[in-house]
Amino acid sequence: MPSSTHNWNIIMSNANRYTGLVDRYRDRLPVSATTRAISLGEGNTPLIKLENIPRIIGKDVEIYVKYEGLNPTGSFKDRGMTMAVTKAVEEGSKAIICASTGNTSAAAAAYAARAGIKAFVLIPEGKIAMGKMAQAMMYGAITMQIRGNFDDGMRLVKEVADQAPVTIVNSINPYRLQGQKTIAYEIVEALGRAPDYHCLPVGNAGNITAHWMGYTEAVANQPKDQFEQVIYDAETDQFTGPKPAGLPIMVGYQASGAAPFLRGGPVANPETVATAIRIGNPQSFNHAKAVVRDSNGWFDELQDSEILEAQRLLSMYEGVFVEPASAASIGGAIRDIKAGKIAEGSVIVCTVTGNGLKDPDTAIKQCSDAVMLTIDATMNDVKTSILSNM
Ligand code: F0G
Repeated sequence: MPSSTHNWNIIMSNANRYTGLVDRYRDRLPVSATTRAISLGEGNTPLIKLENIPRIIGKDVEIYVKYEGLNPTGSFKDRGMTMAVTKAVEEGSKAIICASTGNTSAAAAAYAARAGIKAFVLIPEGKIAMGKMAQAMMYGAITMQIRGNFDDGMRLVKEVADQAPVTIVNSINPYRLQGQKTIAYEIVEALGRAPDYHCLPVGNAGNITAHWMGYTEAVANQPKDQFEQVIYDAETDQFTGPKPAGLPIMVGYQASGAAPFLRGGPVANPETVATAIRIGNPQSFNHAKAVVRDSNGWFDELQDSEILEAQRLLSMYEGVFVEPASAASIGGAIRDIKAGKIAEGSVIVCTVTGNGLKDPDTAIKQCSDAVMLTIDATMNDVKTSILSNM
């Protein structure tokens, strides 16, 4: 093939190449036309309509899961991290730091690797899922396992950022929420409107806040030249910007052992099998309370057993494998649908925040009853295994 034709093919294929959410939503994010996006092609995740679970629970509802586990590092954190690292690099930062229950550290490490800067991550010793640990190490982050929990790590990160040249990339960095809000843009584009209910797991409470900002901006559908970003103003305890009709009711689910929103304030020793949301002192506590207040939504809690049951249900009946924290959204939604708190006829979106492969240990532990046969390598054994299990 002549080389000119070859080059043309490359140019043609690149014209349609998805290059991540900073490029896609540049006009609604705090970047300029020339800002270099640090991207791994995050966002644009599938919105999967559940086909079997509504039938199993016998309710006439449309439930969709936004499968954030299909982001490049396997969680929704990539949306916020592409923005945070893009801005850190634009501002000349050479190093980023975060405290994490695992997913933020994986995302920080990956985007730092991509940008050629350093990532320092603080994780609670012995309390992060194996996949997340593998990621931080492979992406080359400097990992500090602390003898303490996420809340301890968060406190230390805030203190050290005053004393060392590092940019914090936890969700207290406002660019994180700017990136994460794009999930709501995608949902509104896919459905042609916002859902009636949006359910999601809540830990540090940045994501529920970002969803609300994104929904408000997407539903308000402001003209490009008058676009106003929606942010939470701590002084007035209000969200700025337009107040359109047609926003979803926001529902946040927590693990019972780590449920500060249900207890009315910080929880000292959070504990849950859903290690991603093992957080007692959420940084976006007031923001998230304002979201639930303004949307007429609610917070609720699930026992670990309910979270694991929902995780298995989603895997076995829909083929969607998510990590335990993510399953809190679907477990909570199912319970509230069954109870009639979420009415029949509703359109519901659940964010499933992280990929099931992040935490293989918890998955395998709860599948002791799975069909796993050890047989001889003979046709007879294979055939018998099939016929006796039809
Ligand atoms: N689901 C997963 C899989 C998470 O990793 C997190 C948070 C959440 C839900 C809750 O989101 O904090 O915005 O309310 N993980 C953080 C981390 C804390 O360090 O990876 P949130």
